[in-house]
Amino acid sequence: MKAWWSLVGIRIRRAATADVAEIREVAQRTWAFAYQELIPADVQTSLVSRWYSDDARERRMERGILLVAESAPGQAIVGFINTFRNPGRPGEVALAAIYVLPDHEGHGIGTALLCRALAGMPDALRVVAQVEKGNTVGLNFYRARGFDPVREMDDEVADGIVLRTVEVVRSLPRA
Ligand SMILES: CC(C)(COP(=O)(O)OP(=O)(O)OC[C@H]1O[C@@H](n2cnc3c(N)ncnc32)[C@H](O)[C@@H]1OP(=O)(O)O)[C@@H](O)C(=O)NCCC(=O)NCCS
Repeated sequence: MKAWWSLVGIRIRRAATADVAEIREVAQRTWAFAYQELIPADVQTSLVSRWYSDDARERRMERGILLVAESAPGQAIVGFINTFRNPGRPGEVALAAIYVLPDHEGHGIGTALLCRALAGMPDALRVVAQVEKGNTVGLNFYRARGFDPVREMDDEVADGIVLRTVEVVRSLPRA
């Protein structure tokens, strides 16, 4: 059970262009922790620099919602979330990334980011995400927040590195 004050001071806001380096740093540090058994360190570094390049960040901000959580207003970024509407699938939102720094895990920041991102898409009917099978914390998070696993697939993240990925879905009942 989380204490209600664990989120006091945390501010969630839309990402700005100037945040790109800090977002990349959060991704790098979180990957190093979450994927230490799954993805070799050098592959992590090259994937993070590609996926969190300036161009990729532009696309994330233009095509979807990119929110960051600050430890206090104007202070360091400790987590972020990125969602998109899935083209060709009306009502479906893809949760492309959600990361919270390891030393801030378990305080409700991931849940707060998810709630804020979904609040910005009031017509969404379901959210779809993918999580690596060995990522226990990630799978716990999705289960605890109402997502159900629907299928598994292989995902070749780099040459010769194939991860087993679980697709999880959560319906969003609307009044
Ligand atoms: C998944 C992640 C975003 C959750 O963020 P968070 O701020 O820790 O999440 P919350 O504090 O809101 O916790 C929500 C649920 O996640 C699970 N959880 C969070 N931290 C956990 C931990 N260290 N160990 C086990 N489960 C954990 C719990 O089930 C928790 O539910 P509860 O509050 O009912 O106990 C964060 O742990 C993370 O960045 N992990 C690495 C990257 C990742 O797995 N991303 C998602 C898949 S790509």
